[in-house]
This record gives sequence, structure tokens and C-alpha cells, in this order.
Amino acid sequence: MDNFISIANQISILEISYLLASVLFILGLKKLSHPATARAGNLWAAAGMGAAILFTILFHVKEGKHINNVPLILIALAIGSFIGWYASKKVKMTAMPQMVSIFNGMGGACAALISLMEFPKMQNAMAAAGDVHMLGGEGIAILLGLMIGGVSFAGSMIAFGKLDGRIGDIKHPILRIVNLTFLVVLFVALALILFMQPQTDNNWPIYLFAIAALIYGVTFVMPIGGADMPVVISLLNSFTGVAAAMGGFLYGNQAMLTGGILVGSSGTILTILMCKAMNRSLLNVIIGAFGVAGAAGTEDGDKTVKEISLSDAAVLLSYSQKIFIVPGYGLAVAQAQHLCHELDNLLASKGVEVKYAIHPVAGRMPGHMNVLLAEADVPYEKLVEMEDANNEMGNTDVVIVIGANDVVNPAAEDDPSSPIYGMPIIKALDAKNVIVMKRSMAAGYAAIPNNLFYHQKNRMLFGDAKATLQKLVAEIKSL
Ligand code: TAP
Repeated sequence: MDNFISIANQISILEISYLLASVLFILGLKKLSHPATARAGNLWAAAGMGAAILFTILFHVKEGKHINNVPLILIALAIGSFIGWYASKKVKMTAMPQMVSIFNGMGGACAALISLMEFPKMQNAMAAAGDVHMLGGEGIAILLGLMIGGVSFAGSMIAFGKLDGRIGDIKHPILRIVNLTFLVVLFVALALILFMQPQTDNNWPIYLFAIAALIYGVTFVMPIGGADMPVVISLLNSFTGVAAAMGGFLYGNQAMLTGGILVGSSGTILTILMCKAMNRSLLNVIIGAFGVAGAAGTEDGDKTVKEISLSDAAVLLSYSQKIFIVPGYGLAVAQAQHLCHELDNLLASKGVEVKYAIHPVAGRMPGHMNVLLAEADVPYEKLVEMEDANNEMGNTDVVIVIGANDVVNPAAEDDPSSPIYGMPIIKALDAKNVIVMKRSMAAGYAAIPNNLFYHQKNRMLFGDAKATLQKLVAEIKSL
């Protein structure tokens, strides 16, 4: 009896700790939604995870026994934490999507490995009990965990390879048919395994199933355009969450379940938001329309492009009252965020009001510009969301577009044949003057021309963003 009470007590402590961990995950997630609190949010969620691990080690009891391989767990934790810490310290801002992709893939691999370990145990137990099939909650959780985790792992590795420029796109239309066939095969195999009669140590079906899931992960991501990867990563992220939640079901572990559900749902919301901000459907991203339909949008040759000299730009900016900076992917590539802030401070010291207009999909990952500018200590209050910025454009003297292209492309508003038609943009042309800083007339991510560059209000300041900003700052100082 005493034993029973002590076990009951331990279970309830464990459950309460899982509840606490879940609350910390949710609060952490909430804090992550604002740049000012994002660091704290990360720590809160990490504390939740730490608590869940610690309490599991201390209080998890199965058939009267505590966890017995604690040293191995601690060694694995130490190795994993060190790699995670080192990678996050070393990673460049522009390589962030790659890192997220690898870390996400590891989550998927963990979920798949759990399933691979648990399936033989389940099957052997069912065979011993004389069951005629494996259809049931446990079997479904194991197989779904393996399938989704395997797809997420393999897909994330391919996404990493593409983002890092190690793997190219394979866009053959036949891949669509291959993918669809594989998906059907996976679900049919899942059903067949569940209806199989359990046999002791008969594990080849699950290994074949795992291989099929890995192959599908590869073929699913392979045709998707390199620059669409952030959307796919967030989709794969949600897959990993769902796969982890399956592990939570399997072990009756509430922290794993809520953690998985939170990752799964936030990944899904992020995927939807990114697609919405680009005005594209998820199917369109997966099939990869940008760059392929790039013929749309008529342009060119005979239109003239006006340039502005550094000294004229310096004068125009210094004698303005209100300026909006529109940062884009090129600012991140050039790593010119600190110089951008220096320009902003310099102009502010001359009495110019300087703000930043932030497009939700500027750059290559959600919140890219916010993170980039925060790195350069630009105060959050200066960052204005697209809609509010557009409302203020009418009384803005100059808009400086730094390394941005698609997010200011008027074709999104006035060219129904354009692939980006309907995507909300920052309405730079509503301001009195526009200066675009980029290296050439080259297109951006959507691979389409931009009529803003030819508009009479616009003048181009060609060059690498960092070098140009350096010269511009020097020029303004010399005025
Ligand atoms: P883009 O349209 O990709 O344009 C970036 C521009 O930066 C390029 O035209 C390039 O022109 C210029 N650039 C590159 N390196 C530069 C450098 N060193 N110095 C100066 N300029 C440089 O970027 P955007 O306006 O930020 O738009 C983002 C695009 O990515 C959107 O189409 C969006 O849908 C897509 N996207 C975003 C996300 C997220 S979540 N942010 C995810 C997936 C896709 P030059 O080569 O002439 O210099």
C-alpha cells in the first residue's frame, strides 16, 4: 500500500511538472511573438523543456522502476546542448534558415527513431498475446510518428542542402506524379502494416516503411525552388511537431504531447501566414510557380533608368523632413544593417524623422528584417509594419529602398499577369521621392522585372549596399 501511495505521489508530481512545462512552452511562444521579449521567450520555453527532462529523470516510474540509464541520457544531453550552443553562436544571420532546417530535421529523426524502437516491442507483445492485427492507438501513433518524422528528417536535409547551395532543384514534371504515387503508397503501406498479424521479430515491414518515408521526404522537397525553402521548412517544422506529438501519445507524456502540438500548430500558422503574405497558395509554393511563370510582366529596353549621385542623394536626404527606409534581402546579404543604422542616426541628428517600413516577407525568413535591424540596435519603435507605413507614405519625402525588390514592385498592384499580382507591397511610389540601392537591374526572388526602377520618381544608387551606405554616410558627414 505504501508503495502504491508513493508511486501515485510520484506520478502526480510528474504530471504537475508536465503541466508546468506546457505552461512555460506557451508563455515562451507568446513572448517570441515580439522582438523585445523574444530572447526571454526562448529562455522560458527552454526552461520548460529542461524541467520536463529533469522531472522525467527524477520521477518517471514504470513497473515500479525508475529510469536506469541516466548517465547516458546526461552525456547525450551535454553533447546535443554543446552542438546547439556552438552552432547558434557561429551561424551567420543569412544562414539561419539552414540551421533551422538541420535542427528541425533532427527533431523529425528523433520521432522516427522512437517509432522504430517501439514497433518491435509492440509487435512482440501483441504476438505473445495472440492478437490478430496491430490496428489500435499505439500502432497508429507509431506508424504516423515514423512516417511524418521520416519525411520531415529527409525533407529538412534536402532543404538544408538547397539553401546552402549544395543541392540544385530537380523540377521535372514527372516528380509530381512520383510524389503523389509515393504518398498513396505510404498510406496504403501504413494500413497494411496495421492489419498485419503480429509476429515475433518480424520487423522488415517497418524498415521498408521507414525507407519509403525517407525517399518521399527527398522527392517531396526536391522540386521546390530554393528560395521557397523557408515556407517548406516551416511546413516541415509543423510535421516534426506532429511526429513528436505522436511520441507523446505513445508514452502518455503530456509535455511531449503539448510541445509537439504547439510546434505543429505554430508551424502550420507560420506556413499559412507566409503564403498569405506572398499571396500564394501552399500548393503553388510546393509546385514552384515563381521563376517559372516569370515571363509575365512586360518591360524593358527603351525605358530609361535615372541614377542619382552620392552627393545629390546626401543633399536630398539631409534636407528631408521624413524618410522611410525599406530594407530587403540585399541588406542582409550585404550585412549593411549597422551602416544603415548609422545613416539613420546621422539623419536623425540633422532633425530628419527616419523610420523603417517592414514588409512581412522581406528577406528570406519570417521576421528577417526585424532580427537583422535588432542586431544593429535599431529601436523597435522605429520599425513600422507595412500597412501603417503605407498610410504614412503620402507625407514622406524620400523612401530609400535598400536591397529590396519584390516587396516594392508595383506589378503586384497593377499587373494582373504578374506572378506576384495581389501580394501586398510597400507603396514607395506614394512618397515624393524614391532612391533604390542595389547592385544592378537584376530581379529579386520572384524573378520578375520591377517597373518602380523606371518610374520618374525613382533614382537608382547602384552598388553593394554596404559600400554605398559607407560612402553615403561619409558624404552626408562632409556636407
Ligand atoms: P528580393 O525581391 O529577393 O530582392 C533582393 C534584391 O537585393 C535583389 O534584387 C538584389 O539586386 C539586391 N541585392 C542582393 N545583394 C545585394 C547587395 N550586396 N547589395 C545591394 N543589393 C543587393 O528581396 P525582398 O524585396 O526582400 O523580397 C523578398 C522576396 O523573398 C519576396 O519575393 C518574398 O516573397 C520572398 N520570400 C520571402 C520569405 C520570407 S518569410 N521573408 C520566404 C520565402 C520567400 P542586385 O542583384 O541587383 O543587387
